[in-house]
Amino acid sequence: MLWYGGDYNPEQWPEDVWTEDMALMRAARVNLVTVGVFSWARLEPSEGVYAFDWLDKVMDLLDDNGIQVNLATPTASPPPWFSLAYPDALPVTPDGVRLTHGSRDTYCVSAPAYRNKARNIAIKLRERYGEHPALAMWHVHNEYGTSCFCDHVAAAFRAWLEVRYGTLDALNEAWATSFWSQHYSDWAQIMPPRATQYLPNPGQRLDFRRFRSDELMSAYIEQRDILRDTGLPITTNFVFGGWVPVDHWRWAREVDLVAIDDYPSQAGRAAAEQSAFAADLARSWAGGKPWVLMEQAAGVIYTGGRMLSKEPGEIERHSLQHVARGSSGVMFFQWRASRGGAEQWHSGMVPHAGADSRIFREVAELGRTLEELPELGRVSADVAILWDYEAWWGLDQPGLPAEGLDYLEAVRQAHRVLWRQGVLTDFAHPSADISGYRVVIVPSLFVISDAAAENLRNYQGTLVVGYLSGVCDAHARVRLGGYPGALRDVLGIRVEEFRPLAEPVTLSNGAEADLWSEVVELHGAEAVVRYPDGSPAITRFENAWYVSTRLGDDAYAAVLAAAGIEGTGEPGVEQVRRDPMTFTIRHP
Ligand code: GLA
Repeated sequence: MLWYGGDYNPEQWPEDVWTEDMALMRAARVNLVTVGVFSWARLEPSEGVYAFDWLDKVMDLLDDNGIQVNLATPTASPPPWFSLAYPDALPVTPDGVRLTHGSRDTYCVSAPAYRNKARNIAIKLRERYGEHPALAMWHVHNEYGTSCFCDHVAAAFRAWLEVRYGTLDALNEAWATSFWSQHYSDWAQIMPPRATQYLPNPGQRLDFRRFRSDELMSAYIEQRDILRDTGLPITTNFVFGGWVPVDHWRWAREVDLVAIDDYPSQAGRAAAEQSAFAADLARSWAGGKPWVLMEQAAGVIYTGGRMLSKEPGEIERHSLQHVARGSSGVMFFQWRASRGGAEQWHSGMVPHAGADSRIFREVAELGRTLEELPELGRVSADVAILWDYEAWWGLDQPGLPAEGLDYLEAVRQAHRVLWRQGVLTDFAHPSADISGYRVVIVPSLFVISDAAAENLRNYQGTLVVGYLSGVCDAHARVRLGGYPGALRDVLGIRVEEFRPLAEPVTLSNGAEADLWSEVVELHGAEAVVRYPDGSPAITRFENAWYVSTRLGDDAYAAVLAAAGIEGTGEPGVEQVRRDPMTFTIRHP
C-alpha cells in the first residue's frame, strides 16, 4: 500500500472544520498525515507549560477515521517566548546582524538553549504519543538548513575542526594559510566565514559547509535517539537545492526512510524533468532503503519571486513520476490551504475554494489511482551520474577562473538529456561502489578526494568526465602537475591551461561550446572533436571520455550517444519500469 496524504495543520482551523477534514480525507483515500510540524507555540504556549489537549483530540480523530499519523517534532520554529528568553539563540548573519522572531527557522542550531528546549519538546511528544495507535512514523524537525555565524557557532566550528585536523599545523596546511598572512597560532583565532574585506579562504568556506551539515545532523540525531525506542520509522525531510545545504549522502545513513520535498522552479516539461531529478536523487540517497515524496504542491507554488500553478493533470503526472521511480507514497504540503499567515497563497489539497474545486477533484482522483496500483517493487538503473556536495560547495565560491560555472546545472544537464531520451539514471557518491553501472557520468567534479579518484581509476565501465573535474583535492587545493590532476591517467590527457571563453566557439563537429575551454595535451587519448585552433576539445582514452568545454544539450547528448548511452524515448513520454508494471506518463 502506498502512503497518501500531506501536512495536516488543524490548529489553524476551528474544530468544525476538522470534522469536514475527516470526511474529505476519507473521500480522497488519505491514509497518512504529517501533524505538528510548526506547532511548538501551541504545544508549549509558555516555557514549561504544555497544552496537549488539542493534539490529543486530533490524534484520536484521525485514529477513529483510520488515518495514520506521521508526528513531527516542532523544532523548526521556536515560539516567541523562546526567542525573548534566549536572545543568544537567535541566528546571526555573516555580516553580524542578529535576526528577530517573526518568521520560521529563526534559531541557532549551536545555541545550548535551543538544543535543550528542542530535546525537551521531543521528549514530551514521545512520552505522550509514543504508544498512540494512530502513530506510524516520526518526522523530526523540518528541512534542516538554517545557518548562523554567531559565537556559539564559532566555538562549535573550532571543536569540529580540532577533531578533523588534530593540530593547527594540519589545518594551516589544509587551508593554505601562508597566503595573505592567515596563519593561525591558536584555535581561538578561527572564525566562521563571516563577512570580510575581499575574497575569503576556499578551504575555510568548504570546511564550514561540511561543519554546518554535521552540526545540523547532530541536532537531528539527538532527537532521533529520543524517539528511537518506539520502534517506528524516523525521518526528516530533505530538499535537493540550495535551500537545505547539507550533505544528504551522509544524512541518508541516519534516517530510516529518506523523505524529500519537491517544488519544481520551472513549468511544463522542465518541471517534470526537475521532479524526475529529485526522485532519482531520493532513490539514490536511500540506497535501497525506502523513500517517500513527503511534500509537493497541489497547485500554486511560490518560487523565486513568482507564482507557478499546476496545470490540469499535473498533480497526477508529478506524483506518478515519484511512484514510478520508487517512492513509497505521495504526500503534499499541505492538506488545507491556510487563510492567513506567511504562506497563505501556497496551495493545499483542499484549496481556498473548498472541496468543490478542480484541485480537490484531482486530489481525490489521484487517491483512487494510487489505491488501485499493485504492490510495487524496486527500480534499477545501469547509468549513474556522480553527485557530490563537496564538489558543489567547492565550485560555489568567488575567485574562480570563470564567472557562471555552475555545478548543479552541469549535473542537471546530464540528467536532463538522458531523461528526455527515456534513460533512467541513478546518482552516486564519488566514493560509492559504482562497479555495477555500465556507464558513469562525472559532471564538473571539481573537488575530488583521493579515495574517489582511486574509485574512478578502478572502474571498468564507460566513464564520461566533464570539464573542471578532478582539479582540486578534498581541501579545495589545486592538484599540481597539470589538470585534471586526479584523473590525468584515467583520461590519458594533461591540461596545461584553462582558457575561459569570452565568446562561444564552433567545434570541429559543428557543435557550439561556450564559457569554458582548456588546453588539452594527448597522453594516450585520441581527439574526437577539436577546437577551432585544432587542439583537442573532446577526447577518448579506451572507455574514458573527456569533455573539456561546456556544450548545449544536443551536443552533449551526442557525446553520451557516442559513449554508448542513447535511449529510445519519445519527447514528452516518460516510461519507467517499476516491477510489476511500466509507468507511462505523458507530459504535454
Ligand atoms: C517547504 C516546507 C513547508 C512549506 C513548503 C511550501 O517544503 O517544508 O513547510 O513551507 O515548503 O513553501
